[in-house]
Amino acid sequence: MKHKILFVCLGNICRSPSAEAVMKHIVLKKGLENKFYIDSAGTAAYHEGQRADSRMRKFGSKRGYDLTSISRPVDQNNDFEEFDYIIAMDDDNIWDLKRMCPDDKYLSKIKIMTDFRQKMSNTYVPDPYYGGDNGFDLELDILEDSCEGLLKFINSAK
Ligand code: 4NP
Repeated sequence: MKHKILFVCLGNICRSPSAEAVMKHIVLKKGLENKFYIDSAGTAAYHEGQRADSRMRKFGSKRGYDLTSISRPVDQNNDFEEFDYIIAMDDDNIWDLKRMCPDDKYLSKIKIMTDFRQKMSNTYVPDPYYGGDNGFDLELDILEDSCEGLLKFINSAK
């Protein structure tokens, strides 16, 4: 049985595709890729069908991450059943996911990425879309720290 993780942000072109790439990179490095199914989605469909933001891909590739995902919206009918962990980037995402959730039995799957942070103090992953270059690096710092913590959490929950 694979651990199935869905990372969720608003547009699925900056934060959640990066979380997907960082987590895939970490599990590959540890030889655990066959034990995980990792995907990402947006609470909005504005960017459906698009590759990740070009600035995000540039900042990701500088750290060795290949952002290959194509934006898609959260699928209310399948994602809540299909995935074990639905990991949001901020409180707006949490709010939207709870509103979209088709059954209360899935609510415990919804968590915020920074719950798994280890060294960073941030309590959400800020949206870098409208900001400067620093936002992309901060976002990746939080994601690297939190994805390592998420893997530890999943391994310890076995
Ligand atoms: P993301 O960033 O949620 O991290 O993918 C955003 C991308 C696009 C927009 C907002 C946030 N937008 O409003 O178009």
